[in-house]
Amino acid sequence: MNLSIYEASLEDLPYIQALISKSVRKLQAQYYKKSEIETALELVNGIEKLIAAGSFLLAGYEKKIIGCGGWAIDVSEPQKAEIRSFFVHPDFARRGVATHLLMACGNECLRRGIVDLYLTATLSGEPFYKKYGFFEGERFKQDLSNGETFELVKMVKKYTAAEGVPSPQAD
Ligand SMILES: CC(C)(COP(=O)(O)OP(=O)(O)OC[C@H]1O[C@@H](n2cnc3c(N)ncnc32)[C@H](O)[C@@H]1OP(=O)(O)O)[C@@H](O)C(=O)NCCC(=O)NCCS
Repeated sequence: MNLSIYEASLEDLPYIQALISKSVRKLQAQYYKKSEIETALELVNGIEKLIAAGSFLLAGYEKKIIGCGGWAIDVSEPQKAEIRSFFVHPDFARRGVATHLLMACGNECLRRGIVDLYLTATLSGEPFYKKYGFFEGERFKQDLSNGETFELVKMVKKYTAAEGVPSPQAD
């Protein structure tokens, strides 16, 4: 697949939001109830800030945005970064799109000397991050505004120079 990975700009926001809605409605369906998925969209925030910081990447294919994801450097511990907001268009799932994005984010973090990565994964994201060596931490239920909860899991990974970043899968 001829994928391009590039930095998002604010003009991309409406397309990113449309992508996120499509992604969760299909790809989270086997893990959460419909009402939980819809309400949990309220937990996706701060993308404008990541775009402004130059740390939000898009995966483009034939002029369409089919994936997104970024990182946020920890203010108090700048050797750490949080992996944020990974979403892939359902028509392009399991084709290595998120892998390419994670590789690009990981490379950018490594370039800045950041080796400690952490994130809060959805149950739908957990197998993906596990595949790339993130370890499962605390599991918890996030309260949602409709009174329901949304199960999430904290995950961490420390890169070593020898290990580098995940390799993209062959197309
Ligand atoms: C999680 C997500 C970003 C993964 O995107 P993707 O582009 O499909 O992932 P990749 O194709 O790069 O997957 C790489 C590997 O991760 C693992 N993996 C990814 N999705 C998986 C799933 N649903 N079940 C089991 N393993 C999975 C597999 O080992 C896969 O390799 P394989 O396809 O050769 O078996 C995507 O499923 C998604 O957008 N989910 C909905 C939104 C969401 O919950 N995002 C996570 C927020 S923390």
